[in-house]
Amino acid sequence: MKKLIKNGTVVTASETYEADLLIEDGKIAAIGSNLSANGAETVDAKGCYVFPGGIDPHTHLEMPFGGTVSKDDFESGTIAAAYGGTTTVIDFCLTKKGEPMQSSIDEWHAKSKDKAVIDYGFHLMIGEINDDVLQEIPRVISDEGITSFKVFMAYKNVFQADDETLFRTLVTAKELGGLVMVHAENGDVIDYLTKQAIEKGQTDPIYHALTRPPEVEGEATGRAAQLTGLADSQLYVVHVSCSDAVEKIAEARRKGFDVWGETCPQYLVLDQTALEKPNFEGAKYVWSPPLREKHHQDVLWNALKNGDLQTLGSDQCSFDFKGQKELGRGDFTKIPNGGPIIEDRVSILYSEGVTKGRISLNQFVDITSTRIAKLFGLYPQKGTIAIGADADLVLFDPTVERTISADTHHMAVDYNAFEGMKVTGEAVSVLSRGEFVIRDKQFVGSPGTGKYVKRAKYGQTLTANADEVISK
Ligand code: URP
Ligand code: ZN
Ligand code: ZN
Ligand code: ZN
Repeated sequence: MKKLIKNGTVVTASETYEADLLIEDGKIAAIGSNLSANGAETVDAKGCYVFPGGIDPHTHLEMPFGGTVSKDDFESGTIAAAYGGTTTVIDFCLTKKGEPMQSSIDEWHAKSKDKAVIDYGFHLMIGEINDDVLQEIPRVISDEGITSFKVFMAYKNVFQADDETLFRTLVTAKELGGLVMVHAENGDVIDYLTKQAIEKGQTDPIYHALTRPPEVEGEATGRAAQLTGLADSQLYVVHVSCSDAVEKIAEARRKGFDVWGETCPQYLVLDQTALEKPNFEGAKYVWSPPLREKHHQDVLWNALKNGDLQTLGSDQCSFDFKGQKELGRGDFTKIPNGGPIIEDRVSILYSEGVTKGRISLNQFVDITSTRIAKLFGLYPQKGTIAIGADADLVLFDPTVERTISADTHHMAVDYNAFEGMKVTGEAVSVLSRGEFVIRDKQFVGSPGTGKYVKRAKYGQTLTANADEVISK
């Protein structure tokens, strides 16, 4: 069905201008002033910005963790994402050591297929490198379109990989055109500090933060960056939380290493004192890396502004307080790690970033959408407003004032990490490939309409002539 979006202000990573958009067959067919409807349904975007749909590069939907499973699945998680102005998510497919990677990929397809209301792709976790894994990777890239590979440097005896695995993943990615992602925290040191704390009876949620201090994140980030330089490969550091890690990324980039950094809204606006809330409520804020002392926030904002960090992910991995977070009463190591962030990612960056003058409107689009599309092989099909691009669009009213609350959010969990926070701006309507998913703040999509997206190799565009190299 053809649509004509009229009277909006189009915002991309580089431009802001008044224009109408004609949508045909799910794609942007024309951009111009006073376009005529010619039978298209007219949508009035007066007073709204029209952004390319947000892309969340970091979600864990229905993910097993700590003896339980994250609560938001591909249905509730993508509905919440859409309400927040996100039209694509890239979720982490967890592999199991000793099992073919394809069986994990099949499992993730089964979890997502009839549930997602927006488009989605997968990253693949690399737990170990052996001949079987090396044999599977080329096919995973070419047939599945999975072109990013995550290595965990933490969670000892669960997800943690050793340095040989990290290095060989970097070498393989270089050869085959993949992007390596790291969870950068020194898992061995955390394991030692954690055991010491438990021995001393330090079992409250705050000790989750105190046993994984900024230094262990800085160390692992620096190590991963150095190994990337040695392998002449490419690296994306997920969920950067502190100045120690930002410094290592900035240093690597100064040396010319191909290293990128993502932060998350929780690190920009919340701090470590949240873990000290009484009645075990601190557990709501337990994720890894942990929340930091407040002074780290300025460093993260500055890094987004000056380009030392380039993207914002949610690291959505939600657990109810009742029954799930509570598993860790009396032992913080048993609190499932993660939080419900997917819905508020875009809004918080707009409200705290753009309206407070910390980043520009165009930077906001780059950080929440365009740069992510470029790094993860989705551009220019997604991540921008251009003729021929998918009509993944957000009509955003920048004047709305509202308060974030679990009473009104759409995630499946019983609390919101940003409860009571006042924000300016809201996604009013959201389209996925030209169809409304959210219309006038109401969900009008349906589960299963979201499509799995096969992504291009690192540094290439997602078009028919996919060999074209993009400028990152
Ligand atoms: O605590 C977190 N971040 N949980 C999700 C898994 C991860 O480390 O990204
Ligand atoms: Zn992580
Ligand atoms: Zn400090
Ligand atoms: Zn994560």
